[in-house]
Amino acid sequence: MRPAPALVGAALLGLTACSSQEPAPSAALLAARERGAPAEREWRSYLGDRSVTHHSPLDQIDVANVSQLEVAWRYDAGEASERSASQIQFNPLVVKGVLYGTSPSLRLFALDASTGKELWSFRPDADANAWTPSRGVAYWEAPEEQADGSGADERLLFGAGTYLYAIDARTGAAIPEFGDGGRVDLTEGLGRDVGSDLMGVVATTPGTVFEDLLILGGRVNEAEGAAPGHVRAFDVRTGETRWTFHTIPQPGESGHETWPPDAWKTAGGANAWAGISVDAERGLAFVPTGSATPDFFGAAREGDNLFANSLIALDARTGERRWHYQVVRHDIWDRDLPSPPNLVEIMRDGRRIPAVAQLTKTGDTFLFHRETGAPLHPIGEVPVVGEAVEGEHPPASQPRPLRPPAVVRQELTKDLVTDRTPEARAHVLDQLEEMRFGPLWAPASTKGTIEFPGTDGGAEWGGAAWDEASGLLYVNANDVPWILTVLQLPDEDGATTLMGQGYLYTCGACHGIDMRGDGASVPSLVDVGDRLGLLEIYRLVRDGRGRMPGMGGVLEWWQSAAIAWFVYTAGPEDTPASWASQAKETPRYGNAGYRKLVDPDGLPGVKPPWGTLSAIDLSAGEIRWQIPLGDYAAIRDAGESGLGAENYGGPVVTGGGLVFIAATPDERIRAFDKRMGKLLWEAELPASGFATPATYEATGRQFVVIAAGGGKLGRPSGSEYVAFALPAP
Ligand code: HEC
Repeated sequence: MRPAPALVGAALLGLTACSSQEPAPSAALLAARERGAPAEREWRSYLGDRSVTHHSPLDQIDVANVSQLEVAWRYDAGEASERSASQIQFNPLVVKGVLYGTSPSLRLFALDASTGKELWSFRPDADANAWTPSRGVAYWEAPEEQADGSGADERLLFGAGTYLYAIDARTGAAIPEFGDGGRVDLTEGLGRDVGSDLMGVVATTPGTVFEDLLILGGRVNEAEGAAPGHVRAFDVRTGETRWTFHTIPQPGESGHETWPPDAWKTAGGANAWAGISVDAERGLAFVPTGSATPDFFGAAREGDNLFANSLIALDARTGERRWHYQVVRHDIWDRDLPSPPNLVEIMRDGRRIPAVAQLTKTGDTFLFHRETGAPLHPIGEVPVVGEAVEGEHPPASQPRPLRPPAVVRQELTKDLVTDRTPEARAHVLDQLEEMRFGPLWAPASTKGTIEFPGTDGGAEWGGAAWDEASGLLYVNANDVPWILTVLQLPDEDGATTLMGQGYLYTCGACHGIDMRGDGASVPSLVDVGDRLGLLEIYRLVRDGRGRMPGMGGVLEWWQSAAIAWFVYTAGPEDTPASWASQAKETPRYGNAGYRKLVDPDGLPGVKPPWGTLSAIDLSAGEIRWQIPLGDYAAIRDAGESGLGAENYGGPVVTGGGLVFIAATPDERIRAFDKRMGKLLWEAELPASGFATPATYEATGRQFVVIAAGGGKLGRPSGSEYVAFALPAP
């Protein structure tokens, strides 16, 4: 759509078309809009469209010419060196010739989509606690023209920290009529005081627009005291809450009986952090939820815990539940539903059936009828085997689809243990000696239980791409084991315990729950306060040193300071390992930190592939092809390749017969033939693209753009967006 001619004229004359106070779109922005393309040839929704297809009909770049792709433009947000381990997980939006993106610090910006030149920039308020990941924004356009003749109201709904902002898409100005001066505080209106810091509610994934509503979940803290995961619909014009769905049902609401009667007052989580799909024609919103909190210990939440870990179909206008399916009962494994549901169509007896596909962290794909929730492939039950810690109530079994097969391995056997070198194998077998491993759903233990695939999938937040023409769903997955260990917490919930848990999450994987290191390259921290000053430890935590990564990008300064204080003051009697001996009452357990099963070089403790890309024929319930995706730097440096690596960020499939994906820790973006999975093109990025690309047309050219933010899996950070296109004619 072109801008109203009056507006162009006014801008060229240097006049504002709005009232004198309001900023007007710049001439450069209006010129960029002239170069845009029709909606279906741009990228106007997070992940392509509200059905979450990650699909574009564009076919200028195809299997025959993709090898000629070259860099068309680069944009540097200029923040690569500001914080170590900073990231960009953003899937850019392209609307009317303008590309919207965010920097690592969540500065939202608009670029000319054909040149990468910056048009405007918006920095969230300092108290928004930005630097949390943002995966995208939602675009909304009013159906009517504005009274002053300046065209339709166009807004970006943008989550930064605990706020949801409404930003004028043409000027980058916050819209004063929305919420409180342009923003809504997501921690308010939950019926409970959840605190307003980053432990509250953060919209890491954008909401989804339906008519004049923004349907939104959010990320919450995963420990005790976390916010409840209400799904809310905000009025895009005013910011008012129009409906709320309680994913933790309250008295009188269906599902309440799957919890202890008063648990709804204190239990948190069951939040939809992965994104929500909308079937606009049917007026349905499909909501995937995560586990209830605390994540790894459910003594206080006996029961199945509906609607945690469920795919829920809601009436998009009212928030009423139409149907649901619980994928994990009473989750004590952190097996959140990790990806936004894909709205797809499958063939059955010669008829097209509207379906919804839900990926899981275990690498399974559940497929349901969109209207009724009836499973479209049979679902079996897998028993939960093994004893849980005292007080826990594990469920008897968990559902698992019989078709399609999982895209990852789901059971660790000694056969699967790495044989990269004899030392690597011996080291991993040695670790397993004490641990519980084997079946998919073994409960957590104090000695360690293998979760395979790990807490980060299987599938992840990147989600899958759906190609209606071939009936294939393209899924990238992680295929590495993690170690789930719980330890007994002391009775007192004092600050020391909290800081100790902070230590466990960020440091425990290397320095250990007893803080004694590994006796080799990782030093002991017991009595480190006798060797180092508090400030020295704080700087080490922030900046890292040698093989110790800096935490500056993931922790707020006060979190780093609290952990440094804990380490500085902790003697042998205060380490997390000693907590059990301090507990006298009913035992309570907490996660001992996120740890992976790795060999001495930090590589996965299983045989490859460690990360894959698969094409699933959803109608048949079969995997058509699967290939290893990407490589770790250590593998490449050793002259090897093709082993696959953990990956974050999703694929995009195009009318040109291509699947584009970055996501890997080897600073590459690739294109595969969508029919056979053959690699047709790869290019180096300034940092790893842990994000989902977008493809769009501008000035008649097809572009593929990726945010190269790095900062995960130990890779360096970056702050660039890189766009590729065929050589200009
Ligand atoms: C990926 C593994 C890893 C993680 C995670 C990690 N460290 Fe380290 N840490 C190391 C290694 C390796 C060293 C030794 C660094 C060197 O050789 O320069 C080290 C060194 C240290 C030292 C210096 C010890 C001394 O005696 O000089 C301190 C203090 C420290 N780490 C604290 C922490 C804290 C606090 C955290 C969490 C915020 C943390 N580390 C997270 C691996 C890690």
